[in-house]
Parts: sequence; C-alpha cells; structure tokens
Amino acid sequence: MVTRQDYEKLCDEVWKHNRLYFQEGKPIISDDEYDRLVRKLEAVEETHPEWISATSPTQRVGEKPLAGFLDVSHKKPMLSLEKGFTKEELEDFDARVKRILSVKQVEYTVEVKMDGLAISVLYEKGQYKQAITRGDGKVGSDVTQNLKTLHGLPLRLTQENIPDTLEIRGEVFLPKQGFEKMNEERAKLGEPLWANPRNAAAGSLKLLDPKEVAKRVELSVTFYGVVYEPALPIRKQSEVNEYLKSLGLSTLPYHKLCHSIDEVMEYAAEIEKKRVDLPFGIDGIVLKVDDLRAYEDLGTTGKHPRGAIAYKFAAEQAWTTIKDITVQVGRTGVLTPVAELEPVLLAGSTIARATLHNFDELARKDIRVGDYVAVEKGGDVIPKVLQADPSRRNESSKPFHIPKTCPACQSTVYKDPQEVAYRCVNPVCPEQVLRGLTHFVSKDGLDIENLGEKVMEQLFLKGFVKYPSDIFSLTREQLAQLDNFKEKSINNLLESIEKAKKTTLARLIMALGIRHVGIQAADLIANHTGSIEKLLQISKEELLELQGVGEKVASSFVEYFANRENQKQMQLFQERGLECTSEDFTAFQGHPFYNKLLVLTGTLHSLSRHEAERKIKAVGGKVSDSVGKKTDFVVVGTDAGSKFEKAKKLGIPVLTEDEFLQRYSAHHVTTA
Ligand code: IVH
Repeated sequence: MVTRQDYEKLCDEVWKHNRLYFQEGKPIISDDEYDRLVRKLEAVEETHPEWISATSPTQRVGEKPLAGFLDVSHKKPMLSLEKGFTKEELEDFDARVKRILSVKQVEYTVEVKMDGLAISVLYEKGQYKQAITRGDGKVGSDVTQNLKTLHGLPLRLTQENIPDTLEIRGEVFLPKQGFEKMNEERAKLGEPLWANPRNAAAGSLKLLDPKEVAKRVELSVTFYGVVYEPALPIRKQSEVNEYLKSLGLSTLPYHKLCHSIDEVMEYAAEIEKKRVDLPFGIDGIVLKVDDLRAYEDLGTTGKHPRGAIAYKFAAEQAWTTIKDITVQVGRTGVLTPVAELEPVLLAGSTIARATLHNFDELARKDIRVGDYVAVEKGGDVIPKVLQADPSRRNESSKPFHIPKTCPACQSTVYKDPQEVAYRCVNPVCPEQVLRGLTHFVSKDGLDIENLGEKVMEQLFLKGFVKYPSDIFSLTREQLAQLDNFKEKSINNLLESIEKAKKTTLARLIMALGIRHVGIQAADLIANHTGSIEKLLQISKEELLELQGVGEKVASSFVEYFANRENQKQMQLFQERGLECTSEDFTAFQGHPFYNKLLVLTGTLHSLSRHEAERKIKAVGGKVSDSVGKKTDFVVVGTDAGSKFEKAKKLGIPVLTEDEFLQRYSAHHVTTA
C-alpha cells in the first residue's frame, strides 16, 4: 500500500531529477528510469486524486524558463507528449482517439522523435521575429538572438504566399558528430563532459552570449509543426513537412502516413534499426492524428494533446568485451567497480569505461573480466554495464573479488553493515583528497573556470595543492610547470581563481562537500548563519531548530567543523582573500522587486511557491512568511486566507499571480 508519505517522497524524487536534468544538465538516471518514476507517480495520483497538490511534478509540463533571459508567454502552450512503451499502449491510444472522434478509421502521421529541445519560432511577414524555448510550457525564454546564429535557420522565408504571422515548432539538437567533438574539446580542457547531445544542445543554447552560441556551429534546428491558423494552405499533418520545406525550412528526415497501429509498429521497427546509423539522436517516434482539424477537436488533457503520442525506444545498447575491472575511490571513500572496455561506439560517442555500480550488483550479475557485455548509456555521462552473455564466457574466468585494501592508499576497506558501499576510511587517502579538491572547484562547488579534473590532478601530484586553501596561493611559477600552460592559460586560471574568491556562503558550504549536506541544507544554513565566523560556532541544537535540517545533517555539519584541519582551512580561506558576500543584485536595481519584501500566500498555478521565491530572490528581492509593516507586496494565489486579510488591513499592495508574473517579466531584462 502506498502511503501519503510515500507519495510525497515520490514527488520529491521526481522534482530532484527534474532539477538535475533541466537546471543542472546533469541527470543521474536514464530517461527510461525517469519515465518509470513519473508513471509510478501518475499511477498513485490516479488512485489517490485527493493527494494531488498543485506542486506535484505531474502538474507541470517542463521546467522554469532559463535565468538570464527575457521570459515570454507562449501564445499557444507548448505541451509535452504522452508516452507509450508497448504496442498495447498505442492500441489504447488509437481506441480512445476513435471513440472521441466517433470514427472507425484514423490516419496517423508518424515522425521520428528528435532528441533535442523544443523551440517555437515566429515569422512575421516572412521575416524571422522571435524564438522561445518551451520553458514550463506557458512561459519560455526568449532566445531569438541565440537561435539566429544557427546556420540552418532562414531569417527570411522564401515563399510569397505565407500568412502574416507564422508560428512554427521544432527541435534544436546537436548531431552526434558535433557532440563527440564538443566533448573531446571539453575533455582536453578538463571540463566536465556533457551527458548526451540533448544536454549539450541545451547548454549551448543557454549561453548568454550569442557569439559563444555561434561558435558551436554544429547546433541545428528542424521543424515539425505549425501553430494552426485558417490562413494556412494545409489541412493535414502529412502536408506540414512539405509546406515547411517549401518555405526553405529544414524538416524531419523521416515520416510516414500510417493507417493502422500494425503499420505504425512496422515503421517503428524500421526506424529503430536505422537508429544507430542516424547522424542525430532520436528516442522514439511520434504518432499524430493526420487531420489537423480532428487533432484540434481532440483537444488536450492540460498536459498533453489528445491527438498525439510518443512511442519511446529503449535506451541504446552496444556489446563489447571487458578488458579489466578496476576500482575507483570516490570523494567520500566509496569504492566503485568500473569496467574497462574494448572501445565501442554507443549513442554517438566512443565508450571505453562503464560503471558496475557496486560490488553487490557486480556479484548479482556475475560479471567477470573477459566477459562479453551489453552496455547502455543512461542519463549519466558514465555508461553502465547491463549484463554479460554467458554463452560467450571464457571457461577459465573467475568471479571478481572485492578488494580488501584501498587501491589508492592500501588501507583496509571497511563496510558498514547498514550500507551497500565498501569504503576506504583513511581521511588522507590521496584519491579521496584529490576527488574532494576536484569537487571543491567544480560547478557544484566554487565553480572555478579553467580548473578541470586534469589540471587539478597535476596540481595535486606536483604537491602544489594539498588542501583547498592552497588553490588561493598558487603562483605563476607553479602554474608554468603544468602541461601546456603558457602565458594565456596561466592568466586565465589566475583570473578565474581571483573571481572565485568572491562567492556566497551557500556555495562555500557546498564546495566543502560535507557529508549529507545538500543544496537545500547549505542554503538554509548559509541564510541562517550569514558568515564564516558564525558557521564555525553554530551548535547542533541551533541547526536542528532550522526547518529542513535533520539529525543526520546537523551531526555531520558539526562534526566537520569540530575538526581542527577544517577549522584551519576556513581561517586560511579568509586570510587568502575568500569573501562570502551575499549575491550581487545591483544589476536589478530598477526591477519592481529589487530590495523589496514579498509575501506569498494561497495556491499559485503557473509556478510553484518555491519557484516564485526563486524568481524574487533572483532579482534581489526577499521573501517572508508573515505580513507586517515592512512587507512591500503580498502575492495572492487562490484560497488565500489570513495573510490576504492582513495585507488589506495594513494597506499593503496586493498582486495576483498574473500581475506578479507580468511585473517580474516586464523588467527582467538581462545581459542577453
Ligand atoms: S510534436 C505536444 N513532434 O518531444 C507537443 N515533438 O514530449 C507536440 N519532439 O516538446 C510536439 N520530436 O521537444 C513533436 N516529431 C516531433 C518531435 C517532438 C521531438 C519533442 C519536443 C516536445 C517533446 C514532447
């Protein structure tokens, strides 16, 4: 039986993956796993509709618009597609369509499902006017300038006879080859690799500087839909392709008109066979009711159009041989078995290593050196080993043994009976220290540019950086000893280090990599303490008083700062010029919420409370829970109660959700 608590946990879990995927571009589970989680959530909501809250991930189609771009409302919402994984699910879809339309026969245009990110492009009188990302489906980000830099996008349409306004929908994507090249370059620079072409495309489009976008010449765009209007000379989805092509736009390479689900399945199999050899990533096919009028009549469920469905393919797999199994030591000492593979091409890139997750799983799957194995690229950069082919096993092969000592420092390996993981618990294990340092400068930490894994490894091996604070006293002479470090790279790195000295307390806490302390706890503690001094003094009891900080986090936090070496590091940070300022919002002076205190009350509909708070904070505003004389605005959603009353009594300006968003967007002009 699923309890309400389980349900909420599931919601949190999906939100977490949404955040990792959309905001951070670093998914940790595969698309399939993600889909499964969402389906589970949907199933629970179907049996317990009374639990569904406005903030459930199912109530929203995507993610918030990108920070730093102008927000624009879509004239017609950009929904997502319902997903099917089996023939039966497509048959159910087909039956439903026929039932609603009261017809016996429906034709579907079947298209490839491009693995990129959706975009809406507006042409006025044939001239390119605007491009908006999907965002949350209602409001997206204006990326007009960025998209303009894509070679495949005509700025003027070639036909005479086009409606005055033409809004088309399509996909921005990165061809497999471009993706591999981009990752090779990132690897050279020691920057983290993109997990998949879609993340790479999203990351590129997100760059605020169109010139930077233009450098990524491989970014492409293709179109598959029009926002319907009567002036258009087309009545069928199967004509859309030809029509868009006739205007000079690039369109989908594969599509077919199908008359039955059997025919759809045949076509799906045909496409799936071609998949590996296609120069771009696809993750399935899309069925669309061909008659555009019928498609419109079918309407939407709020999240999905009823006239279309995606049939998703399983993640791409490849077979290869395991040359060796090595053991990696993580930042917290966890030992992870890794398969060293005979290099193989998978989903657009060459794979030479794959994770075996943990020793339990390795034993369960009985994977051995020399085995012929299937590897799959999930959401993460690191592919995983799925299974071995027992028929091709070398008879003399032996099961892999869990090492008794750490491969990096040879100290005894320890296993907590409560945990799956085996750990090296030597706090000065060089591998752990190096991983900790790499984390300290990574995007999750102080985000020091030009200081990727490879550079950090050299700094560590040469003994220039032993502790995080050493980073702030690196000299020009030391950097000159690193591979390929000349005048320019030295200057760049020193500059990035200097820049990183101005940071926020929350970032610093995250950078330290204190066990169990995640982004939310770091934010809470940083807001509460406000300074390094206070951070060092805070007691466990005081931490436990913060809502959202539990026993595990509080203990781990206090334990961390009880350590002499850690205290010394904090002191050295300060001596070497690290300053934890509050974020600099001066660029938002003039924004209606800059320096203003807002209170949110009632249920918001187009965004969650949390997102509204983020928006306010992002432009230098503050959010409080209670209405008082100092409150500047009260934002009221539906069912607002006493706070709304109090605001009226005190004469504090009240904003509806729409008014709030309008004010927010109208001034949210940026550097783009
Ligand atoms: S039609 C209601 N056609 O899939 C959305 N979408 O889950 C109508 N996509 O946001 C979109 N290939 O990013 C459509 N041939 C195709 C597509 C396609 C990829 C993406 C698109 C959309 C997502 C929906």
